[in-house]
Amino acid sequence: MFGADDERIAWAEGYVGLLSTIGIERGIIGPREVPRLWGRHILGSAVVEELIPEKADVVDVGSGGGLPGIPLAIARPDLWVTLVEPMQRRVDFLGEVIAALGVPNVEVLRARADEVSPRGQSDVVVSRAVAPLGKLVGWCLPLARKGGVMLAIKGQGAALEVKENAGLIKRAGGGKAEILMCGESKLTDPVFTVPATVVRIERAR
Ligand SMILES: C[S@@+](CC[C@H](N)C(=O)[O-])C[C@H]1O[C@@H](n2cnc3c(N)ncnc32)[C@H](O)[C@@H]1O
Repeated sequence: MFGADDERIAWAEGYVGLLSTIGIERGIIGPREVPRLWGRHILGSAVVEELIPEKADVVDVGSGGGLPGIPLAIARPDLWVTLVEPMQRRVDFLGEVIAALGVPNVEVLRARADEVSPRGQSDVVVSRAVAPLGKLVGWCLPLARKGGVMLAIKGQGAALEVKENAGLIKRAGGGKAEILMCGESKLTDPVFTVPATVVRIERAR
């Protein structure tokens, strides 16, 4: 996922190091997450790159400590990734991580999803653990260009969420909604790594 490129592996290791030190001190992640950082959080985010076209402009809504946006930026140097996060404490952490690692293709924007401007221009809008799907489509789809997509990393209830929110998805401008699994062949440890279940919705209008 991070290839055999020494620089990208060093960035990923540096990110894990920052999350497990100042990330914990500042309450960005809980201490119990440390054993799951590499598998569930870093690799479980990076595998979503399978669904992202080359040179895409990507927005990560509700990035928190940088997930999934920072692993995606590290895994895919061809992407431009904007981390959107409203909480100043988290924005400060993200700015420090980007500066400390020197990852060149990621930026942070302090905003709620509905405050992001310009709208309707991104190729891909990603999110993980941010809001129920019915709310998320109203936040993410308007940021995507027509023909662009939102990719929401969800848990096992993804199919039910899509079914129950069919009307809201359509009203938010969504077209075809699919449930896709990422990283099934790559993430094989059942405890520490879990393939990502992703809801993919095209912006139809
Ligand atoms: C549970 S955290 C998840 C963070 C990260 N995506 C992850 O997977 O670890 C949810 C994040 O969404 C952010 N958030 C809440 N409302 C938001 C909104 N309207 N627009 C953008 N981000 C929002 C919160 O500040 C928080 O950082």
